[in-house]
Amino acid sequence: MIKFKIPFHRPYISQEEIEEVTKVIKSGWLTMGPKTLEFEEKFKEYIYSDSEKKGFAISLNSCTAALHLALKAAGIKPGDEVIIPTNTFIATAEAVTYLGAKPVLCDVEYETHNMDVSLLESLITEKTKAIIPVHFGGQPCDMDEILKIAKKYGLYVIEDAAHALPSWYKGKKIGTIGHLTCFSFYATKTLATGEGGMITTFNEEFAKSIKINRLHGIDRDAWNRYTLQGDWYYEVVEQGYKYNTTDLQSALGIAQLNKLEWMWKRRKEIAQKYEEAFKHTSIETLKIKSDRETSWHLYVIKVNNRDELYKKLKEKGIGTSVHFIPVHRHPYYKNKFNYKKEDYSVAEEVFKRCLSLPIYPGLNEEEVEYIVENVVKYAR
Ligand SMILES: Cc1ncc(COP(=O)(O)O)c(C=O)c1O
Repeated sequence: MIKFKIPFHRPYISQEEIEEVTKVIKSGWLTMGPKTLEFEEKFKEYIYSDSEKKGFAISLNSCTAALHLALKAAGIKPGDEVIIPTNTFIATAEAVTYLGAKPVLCDVEYETHNMDVSLLESLITEKTKAIIPVHFGGQPCDMDEILKIAKKYGLYVIEDAAHALPSWYKGKKIGTIGHLTCFSFYATKTLATGEGGMITTFNEEFAKSIKINRLHGIDRDAWNRYTLQGDWYYEVVEQGYKYNTTDLQSALGIAQLNKLEWMWKRRKEIAQKYEEAFKHTSIETLKIKSDRETSWHLYVIKVNNRDELYKKLKEKGIGTSVHFIPVHRHPYYKNKFNYKKEDYSVAEEVFKRCLSLPIYPGLNEEEVEYIVENVVKYAR
């Protein structure tokens, strides 16, 4: 494998993660167990730390699974419609189709790449049951406006917060705003466990449904049936899934959570360096609205020569990526739901011009300078 000089992403793994995972390996309990309960507890403490009301945190093996079970808990059924932005990873749309529902696509804002809330009401029909705002790159969507519309039409708001850990909207942490919030711990995310996800919610019934569904539809916590505290008997009360996480991943998660805000500050410093460097050039950067804080999961620029710049940077050993190929362009979804690209002109423009640069805590100053130098040199 030919390696990039500066890869698009490098997880930030230190001795603490190695020690925590080693302890789990030596403990003899590899799958969901005490470490997963501890991770859920710590994640809950972190998300709800500034919130008067405390909710639930339920771990899963991915954000895709989280979106699926969140939609199921909200009662989404075949024939229902769920509004999502077209500029998202396919998992957002895919989870909607798992339940036989239709993803109705919303165009995005040019400045933030987030769902354009001014279009929302025009997309609502009698079949609409929920809205999934995706906090693109970590910047929260216009949650007040979305919640207001959701309330008016009796819709659930299920946040796709795969990028938004930690992010704040008007001082509130993402995870404490919508009816359900889904996080990702995929390898490139701000908290990485390889694969993994979490749902936060204030609703006890939702939390119960998700717990049952993540482990084969079993009526109670059955992970401990091989321990002295547990019991072999269980009943399956609905058709469930195998969506639980493991103690190995949870050990990684706990260690990553301990340094989450430090990692966020480092990302923010790098983002500031990029902002400063691109300020007086033709390179466009995302506008971060003044009443919110982004996790800086992604640093996205817009240029006129995206494909050429991607190739040039690759030649220079710099890994970059494109977020995202809009949902309406993927053949399976385009054919199934008859999406027309003319309906998503802003997302089309964004897609043509956008490029995501490396941004992660392990990037050093020299690497940031090398990236800046080459981007400024080759961007048009
Ligand atoms: C916006 C968005 N939603 C959902 C997902 C799915 O996350 P996971 O890989 O944890 O299933 C991703 C993953 O990259 C994503 O970017």
